[in-house]
Parts: sequence; structure tokens; C-alpha cells
Amino acid sequence: MRAYSLLRPLLFMLPPERAHLLALAALERRLLPERRQPVTLKVELWDLTFPNPIGVAAGFDKNAEAACGLFSLGFGFVEVGTLTPLPQPGNPQPRLFRLLEDGALINRLGFNNSGHAAALAGLRARAASGIIGVNIGANRDSADRIGDYVKALGTFNDTASYIAVNISSPNTPGLRALQSQKELSLLLSRLTETRRALSNPKPLLLKIAPDLSNEELADIAELSLANGIDGLIISNTTLSRPSLRSSHASEQGGLSGRPLFELSTRKLAQFYHLTRGRLPLIGVGGVSSAETAWQKIRAGASLVQLYTALIYEGPSLVGDVVEGLAQKLKASGKNSLREITGTGVADWL
Ligand SMILES: Cc1cc2nc3c(=O)[nH]c(=O)nc-3n(C[C@H](O)[C@H](O)[C@H](O)COP(=O)(O)O)c2cc1C
Repeated sequence: MRAYSLLRPLLFMLPPERAHLLALAALERRLLPERRQPVTLKVELWDLTFPNPIGVAAGFDKNAEAACGLFSLGFGFVEVGTLTPLPQPGNPQPRLFRLLEDGALINRLGFNNSGHAAALAGLRARAASGIIGVNIGANRDSADRIGDYVKALGTFNDTASYIAVNISSPNTPGLRALQSQKELSLLLSRLTETRRALSNPKPLLLKIAPDLSNEELADIAELSLANGIDGLIISNTTLSRPSLRSSHASEQGGLSGRPLFELSTRKLAQFYHLTRGRLPLIGVGGVSSAETAWQKIRAGASLVQLYTALIYEGPSLVGDVVEGLAQKLKASGKNSLREITGTGVADWL
């Protein structure tokens, strides 16, 4: 029996945020068993070599404290953040809920984080060797939200492997409006201008919501291509509520985990179709097994992230997904995941 099946009932007796802090502390101190990279499942993208395509999604390691521990679990990359220029406490508690029966979480954390300066110092001090994306956002009370993203580019460009522009959190009022054509084109032109001044600009990705209409998706595709965005992360949590069984179903906030899989995978495939595969995509939402990761790749993902399933399945999930993907690749007779990306898009349209 796996240790996590014994540990989980104890962890789940704690409020979710306390359990999460314990997990982070264990990861930071490298207390969890180290997983070798069991197989070669390399992905070459944006001049980076990902040892495998499975990353931890933003929000797990908000303050960039646990990357070393996360790499030793077997993740091929880690996305830290969301980080805002100034530290902020986030929304009042309780603000994170386990929907056990649904394999889901609802959160309305609201970008609780220690701010740019502390995270940058931590990243530099720990100097984890591995691919680290930095996910950036705007302070809730900022008078210039676009300015907050611009600031982050300057702050993290040298340290990050890539930068993820989060314009899709449902828990900062008004933030998702940055996905509209008018605001996004302003944001992207400011970011493009800032990048031009950098000597070694890192890949810039946009993270979008699964609740966008077809027209909104088409606008984002057009603007991303026109502004030289390097990729998209699809998707953040949803405000929608597919049929759920848990008593927490009507809590406000973003829903993640199993019930998000279908919606986020559909949006991923739609986006791949719209851009005819010209933009690399990171597929995220409800991945909990090698099979669901494989489906994301077939729906258009070059890389895959997960968060909620880690809470339910425990740290051995990472190695299981990576190993399972390698087996699937072998069984397909193909040599690389690149050959699998997008082959199942039609099933989702
Ligand atoms: C507790 C929690 C906090 C999150 N915080 C962030 C965040 O700060 N920034 C962000 O871009 N996404 C955040 N997310 C969204 C995840 O990165 C991911 O997009 C979403 O949970 C779907 O993946 P999953 O179903 O594998 O959890 C958060 C998710 C959860 C559950």
C-alpha cells in the first residue's frame, strides 16, 4: 500500500490551507522520496529541454519556495506564482474547499503571495536546477494593472525560464477583463514594447480561462499571433459548475480538478484548431493520470500541468503519469510526443 493512502486521511482532517503549508514545508526540506527521471520523455521547446512534459501548475508554489522538492518528485518543470509586485494577504479565510466526492477543489485565494522582491530573493538563493516558469499577476488594489505585469517582466526575465501572464484568475475582481480584445491588445503592446528593450527576453505565455466564448478565443488567438506571444496555458479554474455532488459545490471561486477536465480540454483543442497548431500550448485542468495527460497532448498540448490531482493522489502521481506516458508513447509506435500533439483535436470540436 502506498504511504499516501495512509497519510491522506490525516492530512484531510486539517483545513486545506494548513495541509498545503505542511506539504510545502516537506517539499522545501526535501523530506519526500526522490523520484528518478524514470524514462526519457524529453520535449524541446523555446530553446528549452524539458526532461518530461509534466509540470506543476501555478498556485501550488506561490512564493517559489519548493521548486527543488517538486523537481525531485519527478516534475519536468515548475511554474511558481502567481506573484504580484507587492505582497498581499488575499481574501479572508476560509477560501479553499475540498470537494472530495468530485475530486475537485474550489478556491478563492485571491493572489495571496509574498510579492516580487521576496520571491526573487528566494529563487536566487535556492538556485534550483530545472525549468522554472514565473506566473505573474496584478495587485488587487493596483492603480495600473498593466504596469504591474510590465514591472514583473523586468524583475523576473533574467531568473525565469519562461513568464506566464495570468489574466484569468477569477478571484481578483476585474482581472479577467484583461482577456477582452481591447484590454488584451493594450496589455500585449506594452509587454511587447518592454520585451524589445530586454537583451535576452524569455518565452512569454498567456494563461487563459476556460469560460471564454468562441469569439473571445478567436480574438486571443489573433492577438497572440500578432504580438509574438510564445504560447498559451489553457486553462485556469472555471466559474462554471458542472454537476457536482459535494456540499461545497456552491462556494464562490474557481473550480479545479476532475470536473474541469472536459471543459478545459475542449478549449485547448479549439485553440489548437484556431491557430492550426502554430502556438505551443500547455494543457491544464483535471489531469489525474497518464491517460488524461495523453488526452491533453492529443487535444493539442505540447506540455501538461496538474495541481488538484496531486492533493488527492499524492506525490507518487507524478512518476506514475510520466512512466505511463512513456508506455503509451512506446505502444503508439511513435518516437516523440511531438508526433502525438494535436492528433485527437477533432474528437473535441
Ligand atoms: C488552490 C489553487 C490555487 C491556484 N492558484 C493559482 C495562481 O495563483 N495562479 C494561476 O495561474 N493559477 C492558479 N491556480 C490554477 C491552477 O494553476 C490550474 O490552472 C487549475 O487548478 C487547473 O488544474 P488542475 O485541475 O490540475 O488543478 C490555482 C489552483 C488551485 C487549486
